[in-house]
Amino acid sequence: MGLLQDKFSKYDLPQQVMAKGVYPYFRCINSAQDTEVIMSGKKVLMFGSNSYMGLTNDPRIKEAAIEATRKYGTGCAGSRFLNGTLDIHVEFEKELAEFVGKEDAISFSTGFQVNLGTLSAAAGRGEYIICDERDHASIVDGRRLSFATCYKYKHNDMEALEK
Ligand SMILES: Cc1ncc(COP(=O)(O)O)c(C=O)c1O
Repeated sequence: MGLLQDKFSKYDLPQQVMAKGVYPYFRCINSAQDTEVIMSGKKVLMFGSNSYMGLTNDPRIKEAAIEATRKYGTGCAGSRFLNGTLDIHVEFEKELAEFVGKEDAISFSTGFQVNLGTLSAAAGRGEYIICDERDHASIVDGRRLSFATCYKYKHNDMEALEK
C-alpha cells in the first residue's frame, strides 16, 4: 500500500463524529431555497440560509439567470484576470459602485472568496490582525493568506479585545 492510501485507510474522524450523532454534513433539500424547504418529503422551516433577501428564489432573478445562461453559457470558462470577465460583470460592478458611492467595485461569487480576497489584500507581513477566536473559516483562511500576525480575543468578549 502506498503512503497516501495507508494514511487515508486510517482516517476515521467522520465515522467517529457519526457515532456521536453530530455529523452535520450534506443533508439534502429537494425544493427551492426559501423560508420553507422540503427535506425527506417533509416541509420544514429554513433557519440556516444565507439568502437573507430571498433573492435565490426570486422569479426576476431566476429569469435573468436563465437569460444569462442562454446568452453566455453556464460559466465564465476562465479566471476574471484572463478570459473570464463578461460585460455583465463590468455592468454589475459599475452599478454596485454607484449604489454604494465608491469609485469601483469587484464582485466575488461566494462569501468565502470575499474573505480570502479582501483579507489577504488588506494586511500583510509585519502587520497585525486582531480577530475573534470563533471567526468564520473563510476569515481564518484569509488571515493566513495575508501573512499578517494574528491576535485572537475571546469570542464576543470586548474586555478581552481591549486587553
Ligand atoms: C461570516 C461568514 N463569512 C463567510 C461565509 C461564506 O460564505 P459562502 O457560503 O458564500 O462562501 C459565511 C457563510 O456562512 C459566513 O457566515
